[in-house]
Amino acid sequence: MGLSFDLGTPVNTALLLYILYSVQRIIFPSTSAPKTIPNEFKAGYSWMPKAHPPTVLFKTFTPKTLEPFNGKDGGRILLAINGIVFDVTAGRNFYGPNGMYGNFAGRDASRGMAKQSFDLEMLTPVDEQLDSLTDLKPDEIDNMKGWIEHFSNKYIVCGKLINNDAN
Ligand code: HEM
Repeated sequence: MGLSFDLGTPVNTALLLYILYSVQRIIFPSTSAPKTIPNEFKAGYSWMPKAHPPTVLFKTFTPKTLEPFNGKDGGRILLAINGIVFDVTAGRNFYGPNGMYGNFAGRDASRGMAKQSFDLEMLTPVDEQLDSLTDLKPDEIDNMKGWIEHFSNKYIVCGKLINNDAN
């Protein structure tokens, strides 16, 4: 047989048929839509995710409606600083029930962030008016703003905090 190309051998015939088939698929691609919408990439380019990715809705919270988001049930963890509500679920190690800053979970953390303290007396009871923060010194306000900056870069803002009796 030598180096010559023998179309007659079964292997070459099979390969030739395969090449012809592939060329035919390239020249005349199938344009019919798939019967089911593929949800995995291997099924083609027009695929859909199995489920809609989780979305976050910007909501208005009050101290009472924020409080359940304390992570004690394993669910989402939210906290507020100066009226801005952050979803800190990704920081469960910090804010979960065993976290160093668990006190802030589900609460207005403004005063604690300003005064750099996680003592319980930093928190305003959830059935009272929002902490006015008017007694804070300028450097404490600055410290609080620094934390807002940190949280804005790390977590998702998911709402604002207003008084229980507002609207
Ligand atoms: C006992 C002294 C303290 C130690 C050893 C400590 C240690 C730490 C450490 C290691 C981190 C993680 C930093 C990172 O990975 O980005 C952290 C973050 C943080 N600390 Fe402290 N800390 C202390 C006191 C406080 C106090 C008194 C507050 C009160 C406001 C506080 C508030 C925070 C906050 C809000 C974060 C950011 C967590 C986040 O990114 O979600 N820390 N701390």
